[in-house]
Amino acid sequence: MPTYRLAPSILSADFARLGEEVRNVVSAGADIIHFDVMDNHYVPNLTIGPLVCEAIRPHVQVPIDVHLMVRPVDRIIPDFAKAGANIISFHPEASEHLDRTLQLIRDQGCKAGLVFNPATPLHYLDHVMDKLDLILIMSVNPGFGGQSFIPNALKKIAAVRAMIDHSGRDIMLEVDGGIKIDNIAAAARAGADTFVAGSAIFGKPDYRAVIDAMRSELSAV
Ligand code: DX5
Ligand code: ZN
Repeated sequence: MPTYRLAPSILSADFARLGEEVRNVVSAGADIIHFDVMDNHYVPNLTIGPLVCEAIRPHVQVPIDVHLMVRPVDRIIPDFAKAGANIISFHPEASEHLDRTLQLIRDQGCKAGLVFNPATPLHYLDHVMDKLDLILIMSVNPGFGGQSFIPNALKKIAAVRAMIDHSGRDIMLEVDGGIKIDNIAAAARAGADTFVAGSAIFGKPDYRAVIDAMRSELSAV
């Protein structure tokens, strides 16, 4: 069985109590904190930046997975590295020079990821597999929490799983958007090993109950 990781997205957390929220979700069993950065330019919403990453950093030991939905991307990357990010991913459409941006992330001491929207083709992967630590498949269009899972994402996850296996590299395959207790197993069967869930976890009063139920679904895959 692959190592499955659950990455709650703080987009659906209570921002007035963010330190407590991340501590609670990690004690409930989260493996990673997923941190959604939106700029009201690349996506039509505005969220949080490096200052907030720095503020939550002392509250948890688990990796912080920064998902950049911003354009341009390069200028802000060192700020997130300094703020304690462990993984930084971005959308290929938002960078003029993919290879350079991936290298910049690794040069800053972080793991590097590339994110694919539902309609973004996978050919961006063709020449950069050796520079990737994570591939993120969006199962909603980026910009908002609480949207419904787009089933076509499963085929894309399966295609990327085959590419990763063929490469023989250690690359995490993450899925983001509309993940719930009742569809997490399907995403795992398609080949995902890391699961972002925002509203499914932070939208419920008992984080541990949701995380345990997700793990139980995954253990049956
Ligand atoms: C969407 C974000 C997601 C989102 C997930 O642009 O990248 O991380 O917060 O939220 P849910 O799980 O509610 O779809
Ligand atoms: Zn995200």
